[in-house]
Amino acid sequence: MFNLQTTSTTMELLPLVCLYILAWSARTDQTDPRVTGIAVMEDDDVVLPCSFGAMDITNMVFDWKKQNVAYNKREVFLYESGAMYGPKRGGQAEHFKGRVFHFPNQLTSGNASIQIKPTKVDDSGTYICIKAATPPTTLSRVQLTVECKVVLMLT
Ligand SMILES: *[C@@H]1O[C@H](CO)[C@@H](O)[C@H](O)[C@H]1NC(C)=O
Repeated sequence: MFNLQTTSTTMELLPLVCLYILAWSARTDQTDPRVTGIAVMEDDDVVLPCSFGAMDITNMVFDWKKQNVAYNKREVFLYESGAMYGPKRGGQAEHFKGRVFHFPNQLTSGNASIQIKPTKVDDSGTYICIKAATPPTTLSRVQLTVECKVVLMLT
């Protein structure tokens, strides 16, 4: 049942949770010029850029992973010749299920970008786009910061 007291306590704690997550993601911040920094507000959509260059990647494999997180939270998105997450490949972290999309009609121009839609505060962190080959190559690194709307309630 709906419990007003529990709800208001939760509403008071939310800013603290968000601040904690922001502080944690700032701690892992990098100043590497090869890293693309992107900041959005929670619930907004974001495109994480990655390109193979001018080539058709329809039959290639690319894999997006999140860095510095627990093993079962790393897999963000795998594209494999249209199959995406096949049963043999393990799978996407539960956290990202249903929120990550690629751009099918951009594959012929080498576009391996993904969209996270909508974002959550704890999506904040570093993402890498890997071209699966022997050896694999990291094509892009993105430092994503998802800012918390609830912090505004502190004022
Ligand atoms: C890839 O496609 C997305 C969606 O259309 C677009 O926003 C992005 O700019 C494209 N990236 C490149 C490198 O073309």
